[in-house]
Formats: sequence, C-alpha cells, structure tokens
Amino acid sequence: MSKVWYPLGMKIQKLPKAGSIEIAPSILSANFACLGNEIAQVEKAGVKIVHLDVMDGHFVPNITIGPVVISKIRKCSNLFFDSHLMISEPEKYADAFIKAGVNNITFHIEVVPNPKDFINKLHDSGVSASICLNPETPVSAIEKYAHLADMILVMTVHPGFGGQSFIQEAADKIKPIRQIIGPDIRIEVDGGIDPETTPIVTGLGADTLVAGNAIFGQPDRAKAIEAIRNSVKV
Ligand code: DX5
Ligand code: ZN
Repeated sequence: MSKVWYPLGMKIQKLPKAGSIEIAPSILSANFACLGNEIAQVEKAGVKIVHLDVMDGHFVPNITIGPVVISKIRKCSNLFFDSHLMISEPEKYADAFIKAGVNNITFHIEVVPNPKDFINKLHDSGVSASICLNPETPVSAIEKYAHLADMILVMTVHPGFGGQSFIQEAADKIKPIRQIIGPDIRIEVDGGIDPETTPIVTGLGADTLVAGNAIFGQPDRAKAIEAIRNSVKV
C-alpha cells in the first residue's frame, strides 16, 4: 500500500482516546438523497464520529457506498469517518478509501489472512485500524492481533442490513475481549443498539456505540442521540 494523499484542506482526525463513551451514528438508515444534511444534524447534536457502512454484495448480501460517495461527503463534514468495510478484499481497496478521506478502517477478521501486516500498513498511511468479528466468530480469532488495533468492533447482528434485532450471545464476547485488550483500546458494538441495549453493552465494557435505526430512523436525531447517551451504564 502506498503513502496516500489526503484531500486538500482536510483536517486529519484522530480516534477519540479510550476512556469516553462515543456514539457513532450509522448512515445506513439515513436518507441517502441528502447525506450532507443528515450528517450535519448528528454533528450539531455533538457526536464526534460517523459510521460509514461499505458493503460489496459478496462478503455480505447487500451493496451500499464506496470511495466516490465518501469523497463527496468528506467535503461537507469534519467528523471522524469510521469506515466499516464489509467487503471481501479490504487490503485491495483500503488506499481508495483513505484517499476518499476516511479516518479509520475497520476490516473483518474473517477475510484478512495477515492482519498484522494490514494493520501496520493502515497505520503507515495515517489512519486508525479496527478489527471486526461477526456474531459467530470466536474471540480466539482476534486474540493474537487485538493489541495491535485501535478498536475492536463486535457485531451484534449479522452484517448486511440495518434495523435487525440485537444478538445477546454476540455481545457476551465484549467482556473477554476487554480482559484481553485492557482499557486503552476501544470496543465498538454494531447492530441493534438503542436505549434498551446500550446499558447491556456499556455494562459489559463497550465504549463506542454504532446506532443506525435508533438515530436516523427517528424524526429528531438530537433527541435520539440524547436517549442513547442517557441509557449508558458504566
Ligand atoms: C449492519 C451495519 C450497521 C447498521 C446497524 O451490517 O454494519 O452499522 O447500520 O444498524 P442498526 O443500528 O439499525 O442495527
Ligand atoms: Zn457497521
């Protein structure tokens, strides 16, 4: 992977240091016809991170957005762009996403044979690196590499679609992961996060909450974010 150039004038964002609870609205449930405006609403409500779900129709049975769309929304927002690559060959496309302006690349452990090299390459390119596990993937799959990452993403639904029901057994992996990585690496959860499931996952040790339907599926995004914030249990 070559050294990449960020878009001119772009502020280089850093993942907030572990220790705070962050809410990362997923645009999957937003109105894609006016993404700039949708993202501005959550930015105004005080979030620091926006979660961008990239799907290839191969690793998951759905297709969403790619670097072209991300490069356009990069021009409208200074939020931290947390890209979740639900694609089969993330190593092949990482450069394009970094050039488009993402600040974090989350890849699935199920499709990356050499996570250590990939994480190093992402760090060399100036973005943070996160490892994701599907609901059926055991903690042992990430054990050797978890300490190299900036964040571990625990899927609490099967990736591919918004608005699915939270899988408790998948969330049960949060505690053992926290024991392995300690307090300085973030644990993000994604899938079915709302004011009812937030106390469960934060109680287990998650600190970064992706929510699609519970935010962009609601008419008042600021109120929806506040409801999640108020339900955090630490
Ligand atoms: C699902 C995506 C999620 C999705 C979550 O494959 O990775 O980020 O947007 O949606 P909700 O919060 O509606 O479950
Ligand atoms: Zn996601």
